[in-house]
Amino acid sequence: MPKIVIAGNWKMYKTQSEAKAFFSEFPNHLKDTASQAAITDQQILICVPYTNLALLQTVVPAICPNLNIGAQNVHWAENGAFTGEISAPMLVELGIKYVIIGHSERRQFFGETDETVNKRLKAAQAHGLTPILCVGESKQQRDANETESWIFSQLAADLVEVDQNNLIIAYEPIWAIGTGDTCASSEANRVIGLIRGKLANRDITIQYGGSVKADNIDEIMAQPEIDGVLVGGASLDPAGFARIVNYR
Ligand code: PGA
Repeated sequence: MPKIVIAGNWKMYKTQSEAKAFFSEFPNHLKDTASQAAITDQQILICVPYTNLALLQTVVPAICPNLNIGAQNVHWAENGAFTGEISAPMLVELGIKYVIIGHSERRQFFGETDETVNKRLKAAQAHGLTPILCVGESKQQRDANETESWIFSQLAADLVEVDQNNLIIAYEPIWAIGTGDTCASSEANRVIGLIRGKLANRDITIQYGGSVKADNIDEIMAQPEIDGVLVGGASLDPAGFARIVNYR
């Protein structure tokens, strides 16, 4: 897996027809090399709603051979009576390789805990999926100087028995998500350096996420500790996301 990973997170946006429209336009905005198989030193992916996974796995390889389609969550069981959930074998059968786990919206609105995040991480890895684990502090925690202790406690609980050789971490301060209030790139760099210091594998890809846009991507990617980005809102627009992918 390349060290640099530029990932989109479509959240609960785009019907199948909207997803097809995105991909009919997106390659037109890429630099020539980015649309060709030439780029091997960075991975581009977009994590889409479940209803788009099978469709895009069929359509995208011909349009954007370097772009992977990922999922936004996965359950820990192989199958079972878990209404509304999706299993790793279901994703693997479609050829999916990446899955977001522990996004703050899952933790905030759907009761995900460090315990369930840890179970999902282990199940994903057991099936050969590469998880993108999201961690990050709230505004209140930041204001109370609890940023470091909170993130360290998330990492300690989430990463129990997790293979750090097949893992991406995204540092996503909750107060910066969807707010336009980007964390200063030097501060994101500092926190990501602290996260790296806590890991057994310090070569791991660590992304920044939270209001990443076309006009701040260059500054973010210039930071030495930041190995990529997880992009929500700005990944919905083909021209905007292409500009992010084309940051260099
Ligand atoms: P945003 O979302 O880019 O819209 O702030 C990022 C995320 O939630 O992953």
